[in-house]
Amino acid sequence: MAGLPLSELGVRPVDDPPLQEDEPGALQRSLFSRAFSFRSNGARRQRRLVIEYLHVHEDADLSLGVFCLPRGASLPLHNHPGMTVLSRVLYGDMHVRAFDWAEPAPGGDPWAPRRATLVADRVMHAGEEPALLQASSGGNMHAFTAASSCAVLDLLAPPYDTNDPDKDCTYYRELPDSGGQPGTVLLQAHEPLNQDKIVRGPYGGAHIATKPHAARTIVH
Ligand SMILES: [Fe+2]
Repeated sequence: MAGLPLSELGVRPVDDPPLQEDEPGALQRSLFSRAFSFRSNGARRQRRLVIEYLHVHEDADLSLGVFCLPRGASLPLHNHPGMTVLSRVLYGDMHVRAFDWAEPAPGGDPWAPRRATLVADRVMHAGEEPALLQASSGGNMHAFTAASSCAVLDLLAPPYDTNDPDKDCTYYRELPDSGGQPGTVLLQAHEPLNQDKIVRGPYGGAHIATKPHAARTIVH
């Protein structure tokens, strides 16, 4: 993960143009805030950005892909049930907020709020070692926001299983919370509205060959 060159993934870094002073909100925009546009009636709304996903490989044990995010795009808070996850920023800067559960799941209602601990709230840069999330620690739930245009190589082991509700992806939102310990939040499962659009892009890099009982190798 750490040593794989961008050229083998067919990924080229994107350089952002400098923010223009007459760009809406440019002067007020912080690294992590979102791009906005305006409706004709003047109401402010979020503009959906397009995230490109380049699918490298998937088998029963793992999936590997690259998310390419334009500046300001975000992947909302989501979980990785029972998975190990490696994430490496290939270029650019990406803000990550990550949580682990702080208490057992309440029985019965899957929408019941549940307390979680904030374990990461930082910007990941290209050149850093991949971040490791495990099934119950390291930030098993995370949200990404592109502080600049960036790409992240994402390895999931095992992959999501959309046919199994216990192994599919769930999104969460933070609830207003006054009674918790510092560093904890209340999270509730939800369906995100108006999230940035993820489209499948063409993968032009090397492919992974698999052999029974052998390590996976990149083939040129
Ligand atoms: Fe993720």
